[in-house]
Amino acid sequence: MFDSYPSKTQKSKELYERAKSVLPAGVSYAIRHFEPYPFYTARANGSKLFDVDGNEYVDFWLGHTALILGHSPPAVVEAVKKQLENGTHYGTSHELEIKLADQIVKIVPSAEMVRFTNSGTEANMYATRLARAYTSRSKIAKFEGGWHGGYDALHISVKYPFNIPESAGLTTGALQDTIVLPFNNIERVRERLKNEEVASIVIEPVLGAGGGIPAEKEFLKGLRELCNEKGILLIFDEVITGFRLAPGGGQQYYGVTPDMTVFGKILGGGFPIGAFCGRREIMERIDTLVYRRPYYSFHGGTFAANPISMTAGLATVKILEDGQLINKLNNVGGKIREKLKEIFEANEVEVQVTGAGSLFNTHFTKEEVKDARAASKADKKKQVDYHLSLIANGVFFLPTHAGALSTAHSETDIEKLCLETEKYAKQCKRTHHT
Ligand SMILES: Cc1ncc(COP(=O)(O)O)c(C=O)c1O
Repeated sequence: MFDSYPSKTQKSKELYERAKSVLPAGVSYAIRHFEPYPFYTARANGSKLFDVDGNEYVDFWLGHTALILGHSPPAVVEAVKKQLENGTHYGTSHELEIKLADQIVKIVPSAEMVRFTNSGTEANMYATRLARAYTSRSKIAKFEGGWHGGYDALHISVKYPFNIPESAGLTTGALQDTIVLPFNNIERVRERLKNEEVASIVIEPVLGAGGGIPAEKEFLKGLRELCNEKGILLIFDEVITGFRLAPGGGQQYYGVTPDMTVFGKILGGGFPIGAFCGRREIMERIDTLVYRRPYYSFHGGTFAANPISMTAGLATVKILEDGQLINKLNNVGGKIREKLKEIFEANEVEVQVTGAGSLFNTHFTKEEVKDARAASKADKKKQVDYHLSLIANGVFFLPTHAGALSTAHSETDIEKLCLETEKYAKQCKRTHHT
């Protein structure tokens, strides 16, 4: 079903050939590459991407799930246009950073103080350092399948096989203080940490790159209790779930409050951003007026609190604040998960549909998927085939990643997703029976 792709994407192929000579793999991020070559986007609007050959795609990737209001939402575009006239980058203090921090403090349960970064990776890096500074402990813990960006200390056990280094160039020194924990299994987490003193446990409330797998509420509650008992800082990495599962993110959705939270993606309203926040007493460790070397924890950056990102973020968060749009999206997300399940079941294709709120993912396996290890046992080839067949027919997902919804998606967009899924499932059934 992917056969039609090359004939429709000749210009993309040419660009890919050019790109390969100046960009490794022809891309700026390995996950954006897929076979035979990725299409190159010419423009985007609402729920759609348009490639250089004029093909149109309903976009469920949404710029790495960042675009909850779709591409170029008018309210954000208007606000940014005005801000462009007033300066693109100050490198000084300004009111917009206070406004966005105020907004986060208002709606995110764990946030009393905030600092901004340019990406989720950076925010996780500074949050980890802060946790170490605050607790005076070196070790940290993360979960199997958890993705927190490319920061060395957290770049471990993301993909199966979990014992192979995620990248060359990661030193033993950088990783020796990182403990990897099993997801959704509180007994084994307790067991693993029995004789350990860790500064922090970082968790995605819904594993993103690990397979769109929600944490169980009881598991998160158990982690909260464990962290209280052992003086560990619980960090929610809400780079995906923040401002998506609920206005206050996964912590509001689950009713479990972490000590610190990391944001990115949606918070930037389509522009680069990251942020970390938490209780005042923890965040004060960054305050150079209160703590001096060697007791304070450094954070900074040339583009930290860039006024364009602050403007776009403010416009976005204000639209999401009352929760109405998010509730609507969560309802649609629930229906999509049900519908996809039904379609595959009706065609005798063994699939587990995972996700939460407005996130959804498919795993071609008959086993229940409650952690990244289970997800890794699913048939990856089928997953890629499914997504490639969607792409060839105008529905965009990255071949190996989950889908996300935006307020720009129409009923027709959702119907198209279901229709193309049905075509794929039927073809699987035919192949299976011949
Ligand atoms: C949960 C999570 N944390 C952190 C990151 C890293 O963020 P960034 O790509 O902005 O550095 C990502 C990116 O996909 C993510 O999904």
